[in-house]
Amino acid sequence: MTALLSVRPLTKLGTEILDFDIAQADEERLRQIDELYRRNSVVVVRNQRLSPDKLVAFAGRFGDLLPQTGEDQNLPGFPGICVLSNKIVDGRPFGFHKAGRRWHTDGTTLKKAGLTTVLYGIEIPPEGGDTLFADACEAFNSLPEDLQAQLEQVQVIHSLAYLMRRAHHRPELLTPEQRAAMEDVVHPLVLASPIDGRKTFYLTSGSARGVVGMTDEDGRKLLSDWIDYATQDRFVYRHTWQPGDVVIWNDVSTLHLATDFDDTKYERLVYRCWMTPFVPA
Ligand SMILES: [Fe+2]
Repeated sequence: MTALLSVRPLTKLGTEILDFDIAQADEERLRQIDELYRRNSVVVVRNQRLSPDKLVAFAGRFGDLLPQTGEDQNLPGFPGICVLSNKIVDGRPFGFHKAGRRWHTDGTTLKKAGLTTVLYGIEIPPEGGDTLFADACEAFNSLPEDLQAQLEQVQVIHSLAYLMRRAHHRPELLTPEQRAAMEDVVHPLVLASPIDGRKTFYLTSGSARGVVGMTDEDGRKLLSDWIDYATQDRFVYRHTWQPGDVVIWNDVSTLHLATDFDDTKYERLVYRCWMTPFVPA
């Protein structure tokens, strides 16, 4: 199925595609990347050179591109691309700096779970700034069946307002549609992956305000304990970035964490796209 692509595994969680140029790829090879993504929670392709148009076209293969939430952090002219950067341009921050420094999952406040994220690294510090991915599916499947059955009864309350208060975002930046979408949503703690049907933890530290039937404090303690479990080293792939890296991941079966870099010495520029929800072909 993937005879045209050369790949190597990245722990159990993902795969790296070797010697591949997304911008020049024919439809058959691109279709094989789609298939690889359906079988791997994280896919890495290094040494890419993509215009914003090419990035949007590539990301759009994995679902419908979502408009990004912070309008002043979007790439001008590209509402589907959020800039993650510490760069200052014309005296103003060019992008969103210090994002994702806790274990979390993107898209948990959407009513329908199942986001795909693509990051494209353009300027990368020579040290620091790694992204860690935890295999939530492997973590859940490492548990005894009776405990799994108990956890499948847990319902988690996700709150965008709670997330924004914690992240010190400015609610006034939201559009009226985004504000209307700030109602709490409830997702099960255990979901079936839309890719392969395997059950997985659907965990995040960001938006999880509590658990149905528990005090918020007790609910968050329960979730925090399971995040600690699912993010043990044995479940984690650490991605050390190089300029030109494209990383695609499934936000149902993973948690991720951005690590710090020395922003007094280095600049970082990364583009992010979100596609929702992932629908198998
Ligand atoms: Fe994230």
